[in-house]
Amino acid sequence: MSEDETHRYMTRLSHAGRAGTNIRGFVNPAVHRGSTMLYPNMAERMKGGSERLEQKPHYGTGGNPTHWALENVIAEIEGGTRCQVVSTGLAAVTVPLLAYVKSGDHVLMPDSVYGPARSFCDSFLSKMGVATTYYDPCIDAAGIEALFRAETTVLYLESPGSHSFEMQDVPALAAVGRRRGATVMLDNTWGIHHFQPFRHGVHVSIQALTKYVVGHSDVLLGSVTVASEADWERVRGTSLVLGQYASPDDCWLALRGVRTMGVRMEHQMRSAIAVADWLRGRPEIREVLYPALPGARGHEIWRRDFTGACSLFGIVFRPDISREQVFAMAEALQLFGKGASWGGYESLALPSAGFLTRTATSGELGGQAMRLHVGLEDVEDLKADLAQGLAVMNARR
Ligand SMILES: Cc1ncc(COP(=O)(O)O)c(C=O)c1O
Repeated sequence: MSEDETHRYMTRLSHAGRAGTNIRGFVNPAVHRGSTMLYPNMAERMKGGSERLEQKPHYGTGGNPTHWALENVIAEIEGGTRCQVVSTGLAAVTVPLLAYVKSGDHVLMPDSVYGPARSFCDSFLSKMGVATTYYDPCIDAAGIEALFRAETTVLYLESPGSHSFEMQDVPALAAVGRRRGATVMLDNTWGIHHFQPFRHGVHVSIQALTKYVVGHSDVLLGSVTVASEADWERVRGTSLVLGQYASPDDCWLALRGVRTMGVRMEHQMRSAIAVADWLRGRPEIREVLYPALPGARGHEIWRRDFTGACSLFGIVFRPDISREQVFAMAEALQLFGKGASWGGYESLALPSAGFLTRTATSGELGGQAMRLHVGLEDVEDLKADLAQGLAVMNARR
């Protein structure tokens, strides 16, 4: 966390994690690469063991100044105190889960959670003897309380939900989790830049830095941020014991991404709102799943807790529109790439209905659905691309 609490967020985003005076006046930190560390003497070498949790040179796996510069910036963005960078966004999910569960424990996961996180619980935690209960992401405080067991150690949140965009009442749910002695984890990837997890009761904030922080669709990276030393010891200790490591080159690219993330995200949010609003007026669309839109599901929670939105949202087609028609539209799009992931500078479209696993809710959206990521292209060109895609869809009737 920066010592500079006097400056506003965007200023801190520009200054946090810089090289300072370390590297002969250049603005940015260098890329440090290395496995072996050399010590001036044995006394220094022997200190290593007790300092593994600190940002101090020890051995390559403990990170180096390139990692730490990024970790400091992410802690700053998330409003936490300490951050651990890991190899992917998925590792940022699995490392803290492993840090806080043991055999016999119970975990509460939203039904709308990012698919591979669900797979991890079902295929890996279950083998460890850790039980998972999936819950309706729109559950209220009393509902979540009722699902707690004596052995519940983790309350996991992701808001809004992957693909279906349910907003969770994070402060209300986190308050129950805290009262029941659970660790409250949030996948805050959608909320980066616009949601402060630690002000809303979260203990552990998960980020797929792969998305808006990297911002250029060329690096996979994750982070786990915490606000207490006890949580830090758990997360850092687990990451080290698992041999988690991120390439310094990738960290450096993420640091570069951070500097422009604010302006990219503000621009992409404006474009996404314009595109979403335009789509809402189209006769083929039943509903737009974008909490930032007035009148959309979850808008009230979004307005209460968020300062803005990222540019990822969903659309639900009228019930008479078939999957084949939706695929025909996706095929026809020229500017929206057909692909997963999000947060880069490019627009993406991904049909989603029928591919989602749900066990606690029906997952029924009322029609075929598509997830859209709005990039940095001109917003009128994006609308024109969607319009011609919809025309192809309509011609398929
Ligand atoms: C909400 C969310 N969390 C985590 C991840 C995992 O990120 P990564 O692709 O870096 O493993 C993703 C990836 O799409 C995601 O959408």
